[in-house]
Amino acid sequence: MSFPKGFLWGGAVAANQCEGAYLEDGKGLAVPDMLLGGDVNTPRTFLPVTDPKAFYPSHEAVDFYHHYKEDIALFAEMGWSVFRLSINWARIYPNGDDEEPNEAGLAFYDHVFDECRKYGIEPLVTLCHYEMPWNIVKKYNGFYNRETIGLFLKYAETVFTRYKDKVKYWLTFNEINTPLMMYPNGMSNLYSLGLMEKEDLEAVEPIRLSTLKDVPQKKWTALHHEFIASALAVKLGHSINPDFMIGNMICHITLYPLTPNPVDMLAAQTEDDLKNNLCGDVQVRGEYPAYVYRYWEEHDIDSSFILEGDEEILKEGTVDMYTFSYYMSNCVTVKEDAEQIKGNMSLGAKNPYLKASDWGWQIDPVGLRWTLNKLAARYPHVPLMVVENGFGAFDKMEEDGSVHDPYRIDYFRAHIQAMGEAVDDGVPLIGYTTWGPVDLVSASTGEYAKRYGFIYVNRHDDGTGDFSRSRKDSFFWYKKVCESNGEDLD
Ligand code: BG6
Repeated sequence: MSFPKGFLWGGAVAANQCEGAYLEDGKGLAVPDMLLGGDVNTPRTFLPVTDPKAFYPSHEAVDFYHHYKEDIALFAEMGWSVFRLSINWARIYPNGDDEEPNEAGLAFYDHVFDECRKYGIEPLVTLCHYEMPWNIVKKYNGFYNRETIGLFLKYAETVFTRYKDKVKYWLTFNEINTPLMMYPNGMSNLYSLGLMEKEDLEAVEPIRLSTLKDVPQKKWTALHHEFIASALAVKLGHSINPDFMIGNMICHITLYPLTPNPVDMLAAQTEDDLKNNLCGDVQVRGEYPAYVYRYWEEHDIDSSFILEGDEEILKEGTVDMYTFSYYMSNCVTVKEDAEQIKGNMSLGAKNPYLKASDWGWQIDPVGLRWTLNKLAARYPHVPLMVVENGFGAFDKMEEDGSVHDPYRIDYFRAHIQAMGEAVDDGVPLIGYTTWGPVDLVSASTGEYAKRYGFIYVNRHDDGTGDFSRSRKDSFFWYKKVCESNGEDLD
């Protein structure tokens, strides 16, 4: 098993889940700043004003804003060559439609990128990881409004220009496909598209994200605008620096038919196309795939949101690389009484061959090899990167300060082995960033207790903890992996 020379090893975070400092140095409110916490059985709630009595995990998160030097030094100690992070859009344009960018926000990311470069770590930057400025949601209804494309491009131009000599790898939108796949869809419409119904927007009591309304016609319109924004950003980025490598980012929850019954096979294929393939097809191939037109017809979606000239924009703004998150796989069946996975998201039928995490996410390393081969065949010669993969678990700190997390090491070992097999299968995989290398706030539940890190952060769901960092056993293990280019997995 041999990873190519120069393979990128590292980890990935999102600004809203790690930075904190939610109003510091001129930052405006972003969507996650309105979300309270939940847990495996309780969906997060949303309150469209910030309530001083409530606990909003993103407001302090794990205080990366003030700990970035320490964290990046720890990443360097592990031997990383890449660090995926997002720029919080609301740190640069606090209201989304400001005339001028916020200099203090721009300066913060200058410091972060300089710190990475000091250690030879390549930043991989997501332009929008669920971080739309709240004002765009309120005033423009997110990407439902075509004007938001212009707001996004202004932001993209600002950061592409500012960091053109510090950042080479960019991603446009994190998990752009989630509005088509996650249940409840209303939640990902808000996270991803900034789209909410008026009555939800005016709520005075916290609302469960699971009850936010999903209006499919609006969702498809907003998603189309996001595709256009992404394609235009790719073109713009290349005009600013032709060496930029700009990718898309897909949440790939691999789907298998539960049985060999042909109707299950077909159901799995149909769901896979809609949930996993569609967005990648648009962004890599530059056009909507044939299968979407039948779906739109059968679901009364009026495609008049595609304006003259849009097809050319999609064609001219195809991505340079395909990146995705991979955590789990699920099964699809037409049988209504099939056992469902129980966890913090309802995602499909339970696979009898797989075990799951405490949040019900089914662990499937073989599925990663399968997925990489599927993608390599679907998009020949397009470089692939796994930009999120990890194991959320309850960790326990011992009295001597150590954290023994063999379950996390087992998870990573099996997934890295699967990637190595895929490389040997001929898949053009160029890098791997594990999710949440330093503990952070969970996106779906808002918990600190769902920990992903190699680095433990002393911060808890009751708001206690001093944010101090310590190395878990997995830290030392991943260090060996990075330093040996994936050869030493013992
Ligand atoms: C991905 C997101 O869906 O999964 C991340 O891009 C998120 O933002 C990660 O944190 C893990 O999910 P969770 O809900 O366990 O944080």
